Amino acid sequence: MSHQCLLVAIVVFITTEAVSGNTEVVKAVGDEVSFGPDKPPPPPVSSITWKHIKDGDTVKAIEWEDGEKLIPNPRFKDITDLDTKTGQITITKLTVEHSGVYTIDISLKEQAQRYTLTVMEPVPKPVIKIEPSDNPGVVYLICEYSDKIIWRNSTGETLTGSAHHPKGKFITVRKEGNPEIFYTCTLQNTVSEETSDRVYERDLFKGFEKPILTNKFVIWISIVVICLVFILLFLFIPPLHGSCAARCERQKTSRK
Ligand SMILES: *[C@@H]1O[C@H](CO)[C@@H](O)[C@H](O)[C@H]1NC(C)=O
Repeated sequence: MSHQCLLVAIVVFITTEAVSGNTEVVKAVGDEVSFGPDKPPPPPVSSITWKHIKDGDTVKAIEWEDGEKLIPNPRFKDITDLDTKTGQITITKLTVEHSGVYTIDISLKEQAQRYTLTVMEPVPKPVIKIEPSDNPGVVYLICEYSDKIIWRNSTGETLTGSAHHPKGKFITVRKEGNPEIFYTCTLQNTVSEETSDRVYERDLFKGFEKPILTNKFVIWISIVVICLVFILLFLFIPPLHGSCAARCERQKTSRK
C-alpha cells in the first residue's frame, strides 16, 4: 500500500513537473511585460497573489483580496497592475531589478505556471573609431563593445570583422576611390539593436589626398616652432635686459 502511494506520488510529481510551464521572457529596460496563468482562474476566486523571487528572496508583487489591490513592495509601486478576471499581471517601466521568477497563487493555491523574466539594458548607439595604418590608403575602423557587432558597407553587405583588444571588432578599409562608399557598425543583443552613424570614404582618406596636412607634419612644425621660441628666449632676452639696464644706468648718471 505504501509502495503504491509512493508510486502515485512520483507519477503525480513527474506529470506536474511536465505540465508546469516555466516560460522565459526577455525584455529591455523601460519596456512593459504582461503574463498570466494558462487559463483564467475558475470562479469563485477569493484572492490572487503574484510573487517575485529574486536571489532567493520572495516578495509579493501584487495582491488582490476582498476586492482590494495591494502593492506592498516599493519595487512594484505605481507600475504594476492586475487583471482580476484573467489573473494577468502587467508591469511597466521595467528595470533590471524586476528580473527573476514570477509565480501566481489563486485562492492561496500556487499555480503550475511560472515565468522567468530577464530585463536587459538596451545596447547604446555605437560610435566608430578611425585609426590610421602605416599605409596611407588603408585605415582601421573599430567598434569597441562587448555585444554582438555587425559591420556593413553601403551595399548592405556584411563585412567580416577581426577581434579588437580588449573588446570589440575592427575592419580594414582600403581606399576604393569612391567618396560615397560608407561603413556602419551595428550592435545587437536579445532586446535591442542600434546602428552607428555612417562613416564615408571621403572622411577616411583626407590625409591621403593632402599629405601636407598629416598629423606627423603638424607635430614636426609644432616642435620646431617651440624650439625656436625657447632659443630666442634664452639667447636674446637676458642680454636685452642687461644692456637696457646698463643704458638706463648710464642715462641716469649722465643726467646728474
Ligand atoms: C561591400 O562589400 C562586399 C563584400 O565584401 C563587396 O563585394 C562590395 O564590393 C562592397 N561594396 C562597396 C560599395 O564597397
